[in-house]
Amino acid sequence: MSKITVNGGNKIFGELAVQGAKNSVLPVLAGSILCKGNCVIHNCPRLSDVETSIKILTGLGASCLRDENTVIVDSTQISDYKIPEQLMREMRSSVVFLGAIIGRTGKAVISSPGGCELGPRPIDLHLSSLEKLGVNIREEHGFLYCDTPKGLKGAEIHLSFPSVGATENIILAAATAKGVTVIHNAAKEPEISDLADFLNSAGAKIYGSGSDTIYIHGVNSLGSTEHTIIPDRIVACTYMAAAAITNGEIILKGVMPSHMVAILSVFRESGCKISVSGKSLKLTARDRITRVPTIRSLVYPAFPTDAGPLVIAMLSCAKGTSVFVENIFENRFRYIDELNRLGTKIKTEGKIAIIEGVDKLSGAGCKCTDLRGGAALVLAGLRAKGKTVIGDIHHIERGYEDIVENLKLLNADIEYTED
Ligand code: UD1
Repeated sequence: MSKITVNGGNKIFGELAVQGAKNSVLPVLAGSILCKGNCVIHNCPRLSDVETSIKILTGLGASCLRDENTVIVDSTQISDYKIPEQLMREMRSSVVFLGAIIGRTGKAVISSPGGCELGPRPIDLHLSSLEKLGVNIREEHGFLYCDTPKGLKGAEIHLSFPSVGATENIILAAATAKGVTVIHNAAKEPEISDLADFLNSAGAKIYGSGSDTIYIHGVNSLGSTEHTIIPDRIVACTYMAAAAITNGEIILKGVMPSHMVAILSVFRESGCKISVSGKSLKLTARDRITRVPTIRSLVYPAFPTDAGPLVIAMLSCAKGTSVFVENIFENRFRYIDELNRLGTKIKTEGKIAIIEGVDKLSGAGCKCTDLRGGAALVLAGLRAKGKTVIGDIHHIERGYEDIVENLKLLNADIEYTED
């Protein structure tokens, strides 16, 4: 089993180009199923979740080719409509393939994605929305059997919560349905707009993405296209936190600061100096950062839940006590027990984390419990005196491309180690 070993204490400084967004590339790869032709997708990070998506596409009959960070998918020959259970288990977000497979073949069979490391993650909104579009869904022995006896038909859908995944599934199923679909209370995350831009470039007619009402005018079919995935705002936040927690300085290239307004505001409040110029962002944290009284995670454009563990790790070394309120996922604080092994003083109660800032952390053995919680352990390890050995790093590999190599280039003393 691989591990990450960090000898903390080095300041992070230097320049880094930020990878493409995991949460964009997965729905875009799913969307390529709808396209009869070549989809050339640039800025695809090398992540285990992306490799799993490619396996799913190949299993369905698509041909996939990777050249550096460009993936070319040709879905002309798609014939299958089932995702093997093993691949569903590897990646919870494979549920986003459901809408695309149904859109292309009129049916789908997947295993129920069930819970995950962030707690129960129901898909009731995905399923009830697909039913409104004409999908018949039968749940049996942990599998979902879907078909469309009368074809897919546009519908008016009101989401009781602006779920990112449900919005994506509706867009994918509706893109080639008959008639118009309207999503009310849609998710507004930048990754939704990226998916809509990709599909529109292949011939779809999707209007209003980025707002809470999305209109999808169904078209007969989608064709070839070329698209570049947007930068990963959560990865950008991770490297910013790495500089902040070590009192360093970082320049990030290829970011979209407009996608990061709530994140930048928290970093500024903690005393970091941030300057933005086009797609480049510079963060300087010369002095010890200060507390941020309250941060609340909420849907976009508010503070993203995925950035919670990163700023919690950073604020664990701030002057004063900060409070983080997690409003999206029920069970997002499991990594905090692991973080506390390094000397952080964080208490949780329900959806609230109270982060009492300490000046010194010390290296320890710990294990990742989830993707961003794992990144939080790396951040704390960068600050801690001595050696931190982090296990179960497959969680980190789901979302970070070359994190060890990148941090090394940024002056960290960090290595992959084999058991
Ligand atoms: C996506 C992101 C994830 C991010 C999350 C919130 C991907 C691959 N993942 O996940 O990184 O943390 O958005 O920004 O893009 N819910 C229901 N019923 C549903 C669907 C969701 O109750 O049918 C609830 C969930 O339990 C959760 C909340 O809605 O409490 C948010 O979920 P959602 O926006 O759907 O997140 P994901 O799409 O799963």
